[in-house]
Amino acid sequence: MDFREIAQCRRSVRGYDAQRPVEKEKIEACLAAARLAPSACNSQPWMMTVCTGDTARKLAPLTQGMGINSWTEEVPVFVVISEGTMNLSARAGMLLKNNDYRSIDLGIACAYLTAEATEMGLSSCIIGWFREKAVRRLIGCKGKPRLIVALGYPKTDSAAETREKIRKPADSIIKWV
Ligand SMILES: Cc1cc2nc3c(=O)[nH]c(=O)nc-3n(C[C@H](O)[C@H](O)[C@H](O)COP(=O)(O)O)c2cc1C
Repeated sequence: MDFREIAQCRRSVRGYDAQRPVEKEKIEACLAAARLAPSACNSQPWMMTVCTGDTARKLAPLTQGMGINSWTEEVPVFVVISEGTMNLSARAGMLLKNNDYRSIDLGIACAYLTAEATEMGLSSCIIGWFREKAVRRLIGCKGKPRLIVALGYPKTDSAAETREKIRKPADSIIKWV
């Protein structure tokens, strides 16, 4: 798949086959892609924690609440993307320019991870709704968890589902000056 195809066909999947394990090499490929993501001052301010098996089962309810994310029960693999250490220049730049580079960096790494997942034939969904402190306790991570990526193979019925991408019209978000 070339990048355009990945961007075109990648979509959030919210129905996973809990019985189908995800090959370790595929998870590693996703992490390797995320590791190559660019970051402000090459600070690489991230930590990726892979949760499988019992940990994934314990993590799922921490992403749920108020009727949100009830689908995570059957997710076989989660990758928690947490804040990691920043180098001095990125920290200084962030303060001087009042721009949250770390959040931007984490988002880019997440995009790389999910794009590689698509390339590997895996489905994914980025999760931003979770109980931060409880997630932190579960995974034993120093940095603040910011995003969780669900990875796995879709249930057959959701695999067959084709959904048009809903996006704002190009002319409402792109301006040439
Ligand atoms: C930062 C972020 C947080 C998100 N949080 C959730 C979430 O908690 N639960 C969920 O089901 N989807 C979540 N999503 C997925 C978005 O709803 C989805 O990407 C968007 O609707 C576009 O659909 P698509 O990914 O299928 O193209 C999140 C996406 C991003 C980028």
